[in-house]
Amino acid sequence: MGSRTDGRVPNVLITGTPGTGKTSLASLVAGQSGFQHIEVGKWVKERGLHDGWDSELQCFVLDEDKVCDAMEESMSRGGNVVDYHGCDFFPERWFDLVVVLQTDNGILYDRLQRRGYTGRKLQENIECEIMHVIIEEARVSYREDILRVLKSNAVEDQEANLELVLAALSGRGLPPAREANGAANGSANGAAPRVRHGKRIKTHS
Ligand SMILES: Nc1ncnc2c1ncn2[C@@H]1O[C@H](COP(=O)(O)OP(=O)(O)OP(=O)(O)O)[C@@H](O)[C@H]1O
Ligand SMILES: [Mg+2]
Repeated sequence: MGSRTDGRVPNVLITGTPGTGKTSLASLVAGQSGFQHIEVGKWVKERGLHDGWDSELQCFVLDEDKVCDAMEESMSRGGNVVDYHGCDFFPERWFDLVVVLQTDNGILYDRLQRRGYTGRKLQENIECEIMHVIIEEARVSYREDILRVLKSNAVEDQEANLELVLAALSGRGLPPAREANGAANGSANGAAPRVRHGKRIKTHS
């Protein structure tokens, strides 16, 4: 992945349910690789890439077109590590590696509670993780050979994940999915349900 046939520098996407550690890992990757860290949630707030505030879910309503337009120039150049809790609206061509972080439910529950999440917001994000919503979203949106689902329960996982991403960026390749630091890679989990009680469960942070 270090060098693409078209000469463009690669881009990496780090996705997963809120609280799984995307921003922490992306900051480390950016710090060590010199890549630009695009924290999409931050861009949405700072650059107004939304359609207002959802007071019930306590989050901005993302405008996907505005987000993609704002990112296009950087992504065409390459050299970006993108971090967001969704992944199906980005153009597939942007990414050379897609990492989905996964955290055990009990650990994620404690992390989100510590952050002050309660009620519906806490419950929906935990359900999203249990039902592998983001993993499934990534599987239908990106090629299997560039996608890895990686465990993110502890600091040692973060270190292993950082190594994996840096190795891929430097052209040393990706370990086979089943040997990566993953919980759901190549597992029999298959297609997780995306619909419950007739509505799609959305993550929000
Ligand atoms: N692998 C890990 N092991 C232990 N703690 C972690 C790990 N990854 C992240 N954390 C901790 O979990 C919390 C959430 O991490 P972080 O903010 O990076 O998550 P996020 O996925 O970016 O969340 P959001 O989608 O809401 O932005 C932080 O306190 C961070 O220090
Ligand atoms: Mg984050």
